[in-house]
Amino acid sequence: MKFDTPATTNPIDRLKVVGKPTDRVEGPLKTTGTAPYAYEHRDFAATQAYGHVVGSAIAKGKIASMDLDAAHAAPGVLAIVTAANAGKLGKGDFNTAKLLGGPEIQHYHQAIALVIAETFEQARSAAALVRVEYTREKGAFDLAVALDTAVKPPAMFGTEPDTSVGDFAAAFAAAPVQLDQRYTTPDHAHAMMEPHASIANWDGDELTLWTSNQMIAWSVGDVAKTLGIGKDKVRLVSPYIGGGFGGKLFVRADAILAALGAKAARRPVKVALARPFMFNNTPHRPATVQRVRLGATKEGKITAISHESWSGDLPGGGPETAVAQTRLLYAGADRMTMMRLAVLDLPEGNAMRAPGEAPGLMALEVAMDEMAEKLGLDPVQFRILNDTQVDPEAPSRPFTQRQLNKCLETGAEKFGWAKRGKPGATRDGKWLVGMGVAAAFRNNLNANSAARVRLSGSGVVTVETDMTDIGTGSYTIIGQTAAEMMGVPLDRIVVKLGDSSFPVSAGSGGQWGANSSTAGVYAACVKLREAAAQKLGLDPIDAVFADGKVKAGRRSFALGDAAKDGELVAEDMIEFGKLAEKEQQSTFGAHFVEVGVDSMTGEIRIRRMLAVCAAGRILNPKAARSQVIGGMTMGAGAALMEELAVDKRFGFFVNHDLAGYEVPVHADIPYQEVIFLDEVDPNTSPMKAKGVGELGICGVAAAVANAVYNATGARVRSYPITLDKFIDKLPEIA
Ligand code: MOS
Repeated sequence: MKFDTPATTNPIDRLKVVGKPTDRVEGPLKTTGTAPYAYEHRDFAATQAYGHVVGSAIAKGKIASMDLDAAHAAPGVLAIVTAANAGKLGKGDFNTAKLLGGPEIQHYHQAIALVIAETFEQARSAAALVRVEYTREKGAFDLAVALDTAVKPPAMFGTEPDTSVGDFAAAFAAAPVQLDQRYTTPDHAHAMMEPHASIANWDGDELTLWTSNQMIAWSVGDVAKTLGIGKDKVRLVSPYIGGGFGGKLFVRADAILAALGAKAARRPVKVALARPFMFNNTPHRPATVQRVRLGATKEGKITAISHESWSGDLPGGGPETAVAQTRLLYAGADRMTMMRLAVLDLPEGNAMRAPGEAPGLMALEVAMDEMAEKLGLDPVQFRILNDTQVDPEAPSRPFTQRQLNKCLETGAEKFGWAKRGKPGATRDGKWLVGMGVAAAFRNNLNANSAARVRLSGSGVVTVETDMTDIGTGSYTIIGQTAAEMMGVPLDRIVVKLGDSSFPVSAGSGGQWGANSSTAGVYAACVKLREAAAQKLGLDPIDAVFADGKVKAGRRSFALGDAAKDGELVAEDMIEFGKLAEKEQQSTFGAHFVEVGVDSMTGEIRIRRMLAVCAAGRILNPKAARSQVIGGMTMGAGAALMEELAVDKRFGFFVNHDLAGYEVPVHADIPYQEVIFLDEVDPNTSPMKAKGVGELGICGVAAAVANAVYNATGARVRSYPITLDKFIDKLPEIA
């Protein structure tokens, strides 16, 4: 089904199942520990061997020699895979560094060997016996030092590194009120619960990988390319995923090494990346240095706006697109954005939840707070004053829907924003109390997505698509979509996901999954409805699918009657046309945060968080709320805790485990609420929905930072905001 004109009324609009707050259909499996995650796949329990990965102990240089003798002689060892014996290996389109390094080393903890043994313990202990001599080379590990070497990167996925409209420099120089500030964000880790893990089995020249992966079709391609085999020889199965956040968008070392290990050992082999190995072996969100300049009239109208961002990556990598939102968020006639990329020999930088916008808003939305203060304006009012209903870089392109102002107004009212005091002026016992606000923005992306639907004689509808559920609720919203389309309750739907033998979906990335994958299921169900009506001798145009029945005029059948003589199968793909070029599709929100800062110790405690989101039709308010509060929690981590500490001498992340890399826990987040504004966007798909999974993190950290400023009067421009950065600036205790 082509989607190139806005949707009109369709069966989804009945909203009998879609749009209802619905429990996760796979929830009981997960909460009882019976959902088989990749490492728990049981088919080979009797024959499987275990692989343990050896990582490079240098960041840049060469392996001079590897002594495997002791490891080979250790109990239970079956085989050892290294670049020297693995045969010719390619590199996937989506991987920057090689997944099996050697002799050249590209980053610290790059995988250099897999030791395969009968048991996990034997593999791990033998791996410790691998002796490696290295020739270390000098690397670049410090973004601050590498800034001067940063260059203009090539355009990535159509995103230009630089944009310019009008004459920013002149407009900024002429502006009566000016702000020019720099902000820094550190390297972040995805720190998802389930580590990267895979089980590989070869059947002749055909490989099956049970793995934990967000994008099945991309990864089939990269496995095939890396191993030099046909895509038709690779099957990926990834039904349950314990979080990804972008860290599992691309195939990683566990999958490739499990495949190589299974070949070498002639056995099924399972490999999990140990937690302390993941932080340097897998990608991370790159650190940024950002400069924001705002020029405004005395009345608070922005006349000039610019955002520049510097980040680093391995050779061949890309920038963190931290200026992305500034191209679209606020009005201002003269404007420019710029990204520069330095070569750093740290582990690979790549996508992490709202790549670009998440760190970009950490700078822009603090700059907006600072500018509002300079202007003597309320920060909510300042944002409302600078709203734009068109793409400010291309004014002939309107937004399809843009309710940012309503998000801000609704949030201000519900949160009690009017009670906010002057910086450092509000106390609650020993606590300095402050409130902060920030806008949330993330583009809505759509990706072609296919599905197959089967109708059985008993009226059960089975959906098959390679879409993944990374904890987002894909199983549930896909089930809701099929139930709505076929006019049956949700318990008549079976959803099967995450298998490359199913039709290729949008996958889980860029918050495009929910709208795109359900639209693909919609398209397949339209075909199934036609087939069912025809089988029953009804005109498909007149047939109404409701209450488990198919009716037309006076005739009525049970849905299953259409498959009495055998299963009915339909398959289709939603193909997105050029609607998103003509009008800008984006999602909006406003985050409100209240913090308390201990007036003596500087300890920061979040007290309340509220998000108001406008993101198209909300397919399942319960699952969507969970996505947003998860994003808010991650944003709180970015504001206050998360930072990969770089060893600038040797080029690795020092705090490479969950003891040293701190993320929020329940006690850090006492109260969260989410409000979704009514919105239906017929431009996005027949579902009229948009993404929310990344919108939830966007702007949160800035709202926390602004609340800390409002509490203390101390402005910190380098994340995370830890007490050492402002304790000397706390107000005197009276
Ligand atoms: Mo997302 S960072 O595209 O999983």
